[in-house]
Amino acid sequence: MNNNNAFPRVSRLKFFLSITKLLKKPIEVFRGFFDTHGDIFILGQSDLDVVFTQNAELAEQVLQKNARNYSKPEKQKKLLGEYLGKGLLTSDGEYWLKQRRLIQPGFKKQKLAHFTTLMQDKIDEFDLRLIALAESNEVFDITHDLMAITFNIIASCISSANVEAKALSRIEFIEVEIMEHIVKTGRLPFLKSWYKLNGEDKRIAELSKEGDQIIYDLIDERKASKETHNDILDMLLSIRYEENNKGFSRKQLLDEMKILITAGHETTANALSWTLYLLAQHPEVEARLLEEIAEVTGNDKPSLEQLPQLEYTKMVLQESMRLYPPAWITDRVALEDDQIEGVKIVKGSTVAPFIYGIHRNPKYWDNPSKFIPTRFSKANSKNRKKFSYLPFGGGPRLCIGNNFAMMEMQLILVHFLRKYKWKLITEQEIAYQPLITLRPKYGIKMQIQKRAQLKTRKDKTNLDHDQQAPSKCPFH
Ligand code: HEM
Repeated sequence: MNNNNAFPRVSRLKFFLSITKLLKKPIEVFRGFFDTHGDIFILGQSDLDVVFTQNAELAEQVLQKNARNYSKPEKQKKLLGEYLGKGLLTSDGEYWLKQRRLIQPGFKKQKLAHFTTLMQDKIDEFDLRLIALAESNEVFDITHDLMAITFNIIASCISSANVEAKALSRIEFIEVEIMEHIVKTGRLPFLKSWYKLNGEDKRIAELSKEGDQIIYDLIDERKASKETHNDILDMLLSIRYEENNKGFSRKQLLDEMKILITAGHETTANALSWTLYLLAQHPEVEARLLEEIAEVTGNDKPSLEQLPQLEYTKMVLQESMRLYPPAWITDRVALEDDQIEGVKIVKGSTVAPFIYGIHRNPKYWDNPSKFIPTRFSKANSKNRKKFSYLPFGGGPRLCIGNNFAMMEMQLILVHFLRKYKWKLITEQEIAYQPLITLRPKYGIKMQIQKRAQLKTRKDKTNLDHDQQAPSKCPFH
């Protein structure tokens, strides 16, 4: 018997009638249901209910307050796990906790410090492409290029030893193919048997095996070498289980590396794509951003120490992820009955915090659809409702790469803006493609031009000085 009757229900029939639209435009469908039913609604009439929510308190209950009572859905773990194996993103319970405690220290801010150089090197390499694009005035899809640069960054931070470019681009190709396959079978499970028949399953399995072998080779080479690289692979290899002083097995290393590659680049690429899109439409924000960059870094690359001073840059990224959260929804299954606001969440039902909706809920945000980066200033953040902002999730399963991602995005954004002017092509359709992450469906087309050097404070002082000089000059 279930007690969820205090929340409005959407019948499965109604839901299935919206299925074609749901597959194409899930965000719009969910928003429609929330507009009609309020911040929590239940899909279905049975114990296998799905509770969709854009209520911050329910999100907090599930992700933090009673997180022990919730696990990731089995189906999702199975689907992702088939190709990504058993790592942080795809495990639960004791195993997950143990792995998380061992891996997390490697992602602390101080440990990430030396990655700024690696990241900046990859950004500099990528600049050759930007120079060519600026010179040719070519229209290009920024999302596509951002996927490439963020992939190169995460791959080089995982293994900073010179990995052959061919192997790297092969892993990138395989990763994209596998993710597309996962999304297709996750969304349309009835296609599974068709993929068996038409050979798609076999092709993906072979690609997956090939990708695994490339990563195994990296692991084996590193184990055999005496050199230290101070990268994520070295960090993973240095981990020891307390009880037996043993390290991760080859398979565990493979799985964690695959998960970091997958979780660690598409999210970042999407966040940056939407940020450039927003900036192109808000010249006043861009101008303030450029002022900050000129003030803090001048025309140089930002140093590690300068990153915290780029406060407005950080606010712009935070506000962009509020409007376009790369992880737009998450879900958990109740292991036992739970209680929230006097209403029972039945054991076995799924609770799905709709992060996109929480981020635009007028109960928590003034002018929710407006791009206002200063909402994230220290003063304005003081009274923010807990769990009303979840770009990196929340609670014990908070994104392990959040500091890594913020650092990387600041470095890329500063480079892109400092050196180039970004123009949005007006004749194009911008739409959501909410797959695993919130992607721009048709990409985002832009053109770039080289920007003149930024006027730093020193330049401005000199200019003021030059302008005043004539009146002071004894010869005039
Ligand atoms: C803007 C960039 C990023 C966003 C928006 C993002 C978002 C998220 C979110 C929302 C979760 C929690 C999912 C849930 O609770 O269901 C998560 C988990 C995770 N993220 Fe990220 N992420 C980003 C970048 C990264 C990077 C760069 C890495 C790796 C270097 C990474 C690795 C992970 C891992 C391993 C998990 C699973 C953690 C666990 O369950 O213990 N992410 N991410």
